[in-house]
Amino acid sequence: MRRLAVYPGSFDPPTLGHLDVVERAARLFDEVIVAVGVNRSKASFMTVDDRQASLREACAHLDNVQVASFEGLLIEYATRAGATAIVRGLRATADFEYEFQMAMVNRRLRPEVETVFFMTHWEKSYVSSSIVREVALLGGDYSGLVPDAVGERIAAIVRARTS
Ligand code: PNS
Repeated sequence: MRRLAVYPGSFDPPTLGHLDVVERAARLFDEVIVAVGVNRSKASFMTVDDRQASLREACAHLDNVQVASFEGLLIEYATRAGATAIVRGLRATADFEYEFQMAMVNRRLRPEVETVFFMTHWEKSYVSSSIVREVALLGGDYSGLVPDAVGERIAAIVRARTS
C-alpha cells in the first residue's frame, strides 16, 4: 500500500520552514501532496497560482512531491486524494494550541486519517509567512527565510506595490 500524505497550508508565501517539513515528510511517505488552501474571504499576499508555482520550483528536487490546491474542508480533500495522513509542521509551543484543535476536529470528522507533526529544524523554527511578509513589505532582507524561487516572486510583488 502506497502511503500518501497531504501537507496543507496557506503558504503565503512558502518559507524555508515549510520546505524543511516537505523534505522530512517526503522521506517518510511514498507520496506527498503539498496543498495550498484557498480562502476567498481572506486577502492574500501572493496569488494561489503564484504560491503553487513557487512551491513546485522549490520542491523540484523531490520526486515524490506534488503541489495542488483545495477549497472547502481539508479532511474531505485529503480523503478524496486517498491520503492516510495530514502533515503539519510544529515550530514552537505557540503552534500547539491551534494545531491540536485542528487535528482533533479533523479526527472527529474522519478518524481514519491521522495528523502527523514534524518538528522544523531549529534554525528555521522562528520563520513564519507573516514575518516574511512584514520584512519584505518594510524593505528588509528576507533572502535567508524563503526558497530562491519564492524570493524572486516576493521581490516582484514588493516592486509592484511600492512603485
Ligand atoms: O498555513 P495555515 O494558514 O496554518 O493553514 C491553515 C489550513 C489551510 C491548513 C486550514 O485553515 C484549513 O485546513 N483550512 C480548510 C478548512 C478546514 O478544513 N477547516 C476545518 C479544520 S480547522
